[in-house]
Amino acid sequence: MAESVIDVFDRLSGCYDDVLPFFSGFGRLVAERLPEPGPAGRLLDIGAGRGAIAVPARERGYDVTATDAAPGMVARLRQEQPGLDVRLMNAVHLDFPDDSFDVVTAGLVMHLVDDAAAVVREVHRVLKPGGLFAFTVPGREPDGFEFADGANALFGEFARYLPPQGGMGVAFDEIGTLAEAGFDPLRETDLRLDLPLADAETLWRWFQTHGSRKYLDDLPPDRRDEFRRRLLDDLGGRRPLTLRRYVWLHEAQVTRP
Ligand SMILES: C[S@@+](CC[C@H](N)C(=O)[O-])C[C@H]1O[C@@H](n2cnc3c(N)ncnc32)[C@H](O)[C@@H]1O
Repeated sequence: MAESVIDVFDRLSGCYDDVLPFFSGFGRLVAERLPEPGPAGRLLDIGAGRGAIAVPARERGYDVTATDAAPGMVARLRQEQPGLDVRLMNAVHLDFPDDSFDVVTAGLVMHLVDDAAAVVREVHRVLKPGGLFAFTVPGREPDGFEFADGANALFGEFARYLPPQGGMGVAFDEIGTLAEAGFDPLRETDLRLDLPLADAETLWRWFQTHGSRKYLDDLPPDRRDEFRRRLLDDLGGRRPLTLRRYVWLHEAQVTRP
């Protein structure tokens, strides 16, 4: 049976975001854009991982609750952030009363959950009227954009060698799903992160520390070796090497009275 997304992140929790500050980098960009917290601004971060958003949101003054469905992630976050309220929880069933939070965040999670619409309904329920849902999904590349590395082209090319259910993550209609749950979609913003890479091998190691690991593990071994060889050959001579990625930040507000 295919390994579930939660099991993958549980397995990767010991190395997640260790090689490059990718998720923590995007998490800071999201946290910076949140509104000023009110006197008792309560923020729920779902699929919190190692606290990419939860930690800087707390630094900004929010009263943060971080949740994740992978026990390993929860254990690591508790260990690294002893003062943070961290709970093991699947985002499909949020164990909080209605109208509990001013802000809910979800960094690069919504495209991974089994039922994004169900999660959006739960988020809507636990937000106070006027509350904000801010979440990121992997970005669409703006027109004319070229990847600073050739890896995305390889991911596209090798997808045909994946078994059914291979890899992870599905796009969904974010705006339609928000509107259906009763949100007023406010804004879509593309966020960009450039991270210098010491060498091509660093990029390969980075792929082992998050969701792309499942894609690579799901390839037949000879194709995986070929992917690695092509990546290293392609990038080996290029200097400087930069990992440039985009995510889309969606912000939406609860409209119920
Ligand atoms: C790509 S990571 C993002 C983590 C963090 N938000 C960040 O930006 O680094 C996805 C996280 O979502 C969690 N996750 C996946 N499915 C989930 C679900 N149904 N409910 C709660 N967490 C989930 C995983 O365990 C993992 O920690």
